[in-house]
Amino acid sequence: MNMNAAFSQFYKRTPEQRLAILAKTLGLSETEQQELQQRADQGDAPLLIENYLTTYQLPEGVAVNFLVNQHEYVVPMVTEEPSVIAAASNGAKQLAQAGGITATVRSRLLTGQVVLSDVRVYASIDDWVALHQNELLEVARQAHPSIVKRGGGPQTIRTRDLGEGFVSIDLTVDVQSAMGANMMNTMLEAIADVIQNKLHHTTLFSILSNAGDQSLATATVSIPVGQLANDFDDAKRVAKRIEQASRIAQLDSMRAVTHNKGIMNGVDAVVLAMGNDWRAIESAAHAFAVTDGQYRGLSQWHLTDNQLTGTLTLPLPIGVVGGATKVLPLVAINQKIAQIKSPEELMMLIVAVGLAQNFAALKALVTSGIQQGHMKMQMRSLAMSVGATAVETPALTQQLMKLSDPNEAQATQLLNQIREKQGE
Ligand code: MEV
Repeated sequence: MNMNAAFSQFYKRTPEQRLAILAKTLGLSETEQQELQQRADQGDAPLLIENYLTTYQLPEGVAVNFLVNQHEYVVPMVTEEPSVIAAASNGAKQLAQAGGITATVRSRLLTGQVVLSDVRVYASIDDWVALHQNELLEVARQAHPSIVKRGGGPQTIRTRDLGEGFVSIDLTVDVQSAMGANMMNTMLEAIADVIQNKLHHTTLFSILSNAGDQSLATATVSIPVGQLANDFDDAKRVAKRIEQASRIAQLDSMRAVTHNKGIMNGVDAVVLAMGNDWRAIESAAHAFAVTDGQYRGLSQWHLTDNQLTGTLTLPLPIGVVGGATKVLPLVAINQKIAQIKSPEELMMLIVAVGLAQNFAALKALVTSGIQQGHMKMQMRSLAMSVGATAVETPALTQQLMKLSDPNEAQATQLLNQIREKQGE
């Protein structure tokens, strides 16, 4: 069979026609087709992407107990990992008992690049841009005047010599509440046109940077050591071990990756719930983690004077209006659940979630070990994977938790027993 012929002009087909073609060429069963069709969206989703087929769903829950800047939050999180929301809520509860998390935003600007190639003398570009700074900023403003009306707009322009004849012209823009990708790219292309016309220098490309280092948010918390266990000596030991675990993430990049993955468990889940580009946030975070040349943990925990203090700084170039936030129907509701009033507030909430998630992970790792806390969630996943319904899952989970290392066969057997009993 010629696959390419079957998929010719695929983008012009309706989702139903696409499904029929897929079913025919790839042999999808009736049940599989129904699964895909049932989840197909009647709203805007089919227009959001090319070759839309269906809507892939992920579970959404809310993390509770968050106290950030003395404000209580309920945090929508979208994740497929069973323990993430439980750990975030649990971590947040302990941090709230310690007086809550303090969060700040250092700046909130987006950066973009116009890249030139084949530059013979860097200084000539640098001098020209320095001399025409105001003119270039004005060109950027004119390219997107509405952002200026809203109080934002282009802020700075500078050049960097990248070597090998490449030069980057960097523009920073205050994008107000938006993610700002489109406005930035429009401004950069307008600047590129000026470079072309006035300097007669062809640009290689113009694009925003996802580095996010101009959009930093920091969360800190200070926990009285006595809070970490009933017995003070035990509590001190736990605090010391959390400090050591955090230190290892500074020394060893192999561990830092896992340490940061735990932070991003929480961060991505909120970013996703808020309709933002989580790939941008991920790449920004990992670039930030390697700022000094070695990949390190993004958070640090220190024990001083019987206080365990944790700090996390993250680049969080997120938006609360425009883009997917407008199109995905749940985003507006999630913003309402979290009572978010500005992008800065969302940045502070996200970095706070990252810190709570990290605290919960490190504390579990250096005390009971991660498996114990994960066990119930894992047993629930096992129950669901063998086909337990929402009604059957709690009972099956309970039974699985009594076994030492249950497998699918045992889970299926127990499920059958539950069903037999129900049928009696
Ligand atoms: C699991 O998804 C995340 C952890 O591995 C994070 C960590 O080790 O810090 C528990």
